[in-house]
Amino acid sequence: MQTDSSFTFVLFGGTGDLSMRKILPALFEAHRAGGMLADSGKIVAVARHVADRGEYLQWVDEHVKPHASKNGVDEAAWTSFLARIELVKIDLGNPEDFAQLRDAIQDMPGIRVFYLATGPSLFVPICHALAAVGLNHNARIVLEKPLGYDLKSSNAINDAVGEIFAEEQIYRIDHYLGKEPVQNLLALRFGNALFEPLWRREWVESIQITIAEELGVEARGDFYDNTGALRDMVQNHLLQLLAIVAMEPPHSMDSDSVRDEKLRVLRALKPIDPHEIGKVAVRGQYHSGVIRGNAVPAYATEHGVKPDSSTETFVALKVEIENWRWAGVPFFLRTGKRLADRVAEIVVNFRAVPHSALGASALRAGANRLVIRLQPNETIRLYCLAKQPGEGMNLASVYLDLAFDRFFREAQMEAYQRLLLDVINGRLALFVRRDEQEAAWRWVEPILNEWKASTKLPKPYAAGTWGPAAASAMLAQHGTCWLEEEN
Ligand code: BG6
Repeated sequence: MQTDSSFTFVLFGGTGDLSMRKILPALFEAHRAGGMLADSGKIVAVARHVADRGEYLQWVDEHVKPHASKNGVDEAAWTSFLARIELVKIDLGNPEDFAQLRDAIQDMPGIRVFYLATGPSLFVPICHALAAVGLNHNARIVLEKPLGYDLKSSNAINDAVGEIFAEEQIYRIDHYLGKEPVQNLLALRFGNALFEPLWRREWVESIQITIAEELGVEARGDFYDNTGALRDMVQNHLLQLLAIVAMEPPHSMDSDSVRDEKLRVLRALKPIDPHEIGKVAVRGQYHSGVIRGNAVPAYATEHGVKPDSSTETFVALKVEIENWRWAGVPFFLRTGKRLADRVAEIVVNFRAVPHSALGASALRAGANRLVIRLQPNETIRLYCLAKQPGEGMNLASVYLDLAFDRFFREAQMEAYQRLLLDVINGRLALFVRRDEQEAAWRWVEPILNEWKASTKLPKPYAAGTWGPAAASAMLAQHGTCWLEEEN
């Protein structure tokens, strides 16, 4: 893809973890690939604790390069990438300093992108300071999650940012929307007539969406302990995946058609009845355990975590969608840290045949299912029953397998690369609109409130397992189980 969309990409938090691991490596990859970034495009890092541009480039060399290319860095491309980078040294807490930023970038070309890779408490002050020096025109602003702590605080940020930037200028990142397999889910659903007639309550018994991680809270104990899995993963990534799985076919792939359809799903989520929370929501917290042969400590002993913390590191939910397509179909969502495996997948369990002439196994739930594995190793498998070779009519489970690396030789594009290119090129479809974000907060809030008020602690689970037993019991009540429990 050739582009001539010139840009000035201003990166607030230029020495932060996100810049180091994700944003600068993604920009480098787009630069290296050639033709994706306009030659005249500039990257302006905003940082305070580096002496000058030379020192910053040295930092980039030492810290960003190791994350920059999986298969070694092309040195010529790296040198020309560094040449794009400028540094502006200002104190973000001091609005007067923003005049220096304005002076530094005023003659730079193209659209201005302000990427706020900072703590959320700086979002509003930065926007005000940008507006005060007239930098909110010909500009786009990118906001990282978490955007707020609940509906009220998210509204406060959105109101304040919205006074300075129009909604079409605001790019709210949910990096799951930039993942290749999530794009592929849209292709699967809306590029094939095959699935559409089956994608509804008449044929689907239940749907599971899991994002499981082996990692714990790493160096983010402090942040995580004030956040928890519901805010960190469910309010955004899991509800966005749910919306994509459940949405109606959009009229086109333009930004508002897709986002309108996702919004309809989010607004149709059956509100959680506070009295029923024990039946539809399970929260857990990991204790010490063993993952792939290595002993790992309990959450409560992680750096930055309060020893008596009641923060959840695991959530499982039963969600219902109140519309004609999905009424009565349970969607089971699950996410957790320090689980047995790192896997993100969507499992669509179809109903069993209404009558079996071939014995009881054909009536088994899950005989027909579609498993969409998002990561690692993207695959889509359609499970069916087939006759086992030999005498008699014995059925066994087999699958049609779509393994993308067998069909496509091209490397997958990293989520951040796709999303940053979309910001530079003004494509909003993969960013979360304010009304979607509000609907998601509104839906999770009763759970947050109930858990906050509850004297019950999250259920313990050993690191390296699949979470508390209560998460399995919740599915058992519906005559089903999590996918890994079948094997
Ligand atoms: C982030 C969460 O949004 O997503 C992290 O804050 C989590 O806690 C991460 O680890 C998972 O993303 P991925 O792409 O590694 O599945």
